[in-house]
Amino acid sequence: MSELGIGRQRQADIYLGALSGARRSVPVDPARLEEAASKRMSPEAFAYIAGGAGLEETIRVNRDAFDRLRIVPRVLRDVSTRDTSVELFGRRLPGPFLLAPIGVLEMAHREADLAVARAAAAKGVPMIFSNQASVPMERCAESMGTGPRWFQLYWSTSNELVESLVGRAEACGCAAIVVTLDTTLLGWRTRDLDLAYLPFLRGKGIAQYTSDPVFRRLVDQADEGPTNRPRPTLAGLSALFQLTRAYPGSFLANIRSPRPRTAVRQFLEIYSRPSLTWEDLPFLRERTKLPILLKGVLHPEDARRAVDGGVDGLVVSNHGGRQIDGEIATVDALPAIVEAVDRQVPILLDSGVRGGADAFKAVALGASAVLIGRPYAYGLAIAGERGVRDVLQNFLADFDLTMGLAGCASIDEISAESLAAGG
Ligand code: FNR
Repeated sequence: MSELGIGRQRQADIYLGALSGARRSVPVDPARLEEAASKRMSPEAFAYIAGGAGLEETIRVNRDAFDRLRIVPRVLRDVSTRDTSVELFGRRLPGPFLLAPIGVLEMAHREADLAVARAAAAKGVPMIFSNQASVPMERCAESMGTGPRWFQLYWSTSNELVESLVGRAEACGCAAIVVTLDTTLLGWRTRDLDLAYLPFLRGKGIAQYTSDPVFRRLVDQADEGPTNRPRPTLAGLSALFQLTRAYPGSFLANIRSPRPRTAVRQFLEIYSRPSLTWEDLPFLRERTKLPILLKGVLHPEDARRAVDGGVDGLVVSNHGGRQIDGEIATVDALPAIVEAVDRQVPILLDSGVRGGADAFKAVALGASAVLIGRPYAYGLAIAGERGVRDVLQNFLADFDLTMGLAGCASIDEISAESLAAGG
């Protein structure tokens, strides 16, 4: 870190950079960031990333809940040097931030997860590899050196596949497994439904599957069935083209083979298990020594049960409002969960985090860290790896300055006393 600290260094880079003619394409303001990204993506891609379930009330309340909390600064405390670092599962991180697992990043940028992995590693911020990634986890891990990474799991109907994915995550240096529980069914995503667009059907976002030995064996075994091919239309051909291109291997070999289509069918059958219950968790516990976190926990009784069952951490999340419309905001759910868990395990939070002050508020309410979601996908869409790096630097800088201005020199000094309820 520079003498100035993360925040002042970033301000200096931006203001002084402009004096020497540097132009910035990645807006700092979150609304302008989203708008700039929307111009770089197809309408389908932007709808998929920005959209939520139903009337998108949950997206709105996530923000409202942050907005209702107000920071009450304390003055005349020496905040000339500030330490924004936090320790999570034995590793020190530069700030209370991780990158949320976001699937199908190829819709934002052709380098997708690889660009994100490089940016995350450059900043020392953990990247949580999505189960629906566009690039296999091993390739991302390879590009990260010792940069921290975790793996997010969607519990498949095949336990053999679950085991294989977790084994791969361990082998490529992931430090934790995040099991996402709020997406055993896909939410009612109005924007995607109106465009009749689901990326997975075009072979996008299934790279963790097509690179997996268990999944590939299942594809080999799958009966192609009667080739009930619809009459070719332009839209159909375009979908087939995309699907074929997305499948690993040569395009020419794939276009003649039923495998890309079988893989998508197999994926749709296997990717999630709505019948999952608490009784399934020991299966995972017995197969990995890595810390296990549950993502999508919003009820204090579920939080307590998870901790009693040996889970190592929680992610308080409503999936960025993509699953249930009119759901509780995550910062509204946080205090009761913190109380129920009584600081026995780290609690992370996401959904609606758009700046350093949001992270400060979450930490004040008892979160150990927050996950950055859509904003980094927007940075990626605008400027690839550099865009993600810019977004990360902005979050870290904003947090550093907010913390100092609130009178806190380190994370430990942030507490519920730093907050008041606004009108
Ligand atoms: C997600 N999210 C997500 N979560 C997860 O566990 N696995 C995944 O593959 C995905 N994929 C995904 C795709 C897109 C386009 C979005 C926007 C989100 C949810 C994500 O991890 C996180 O919970 C939310 O993004 C947080 O909300 P905000 O801050 O982005 O509004």
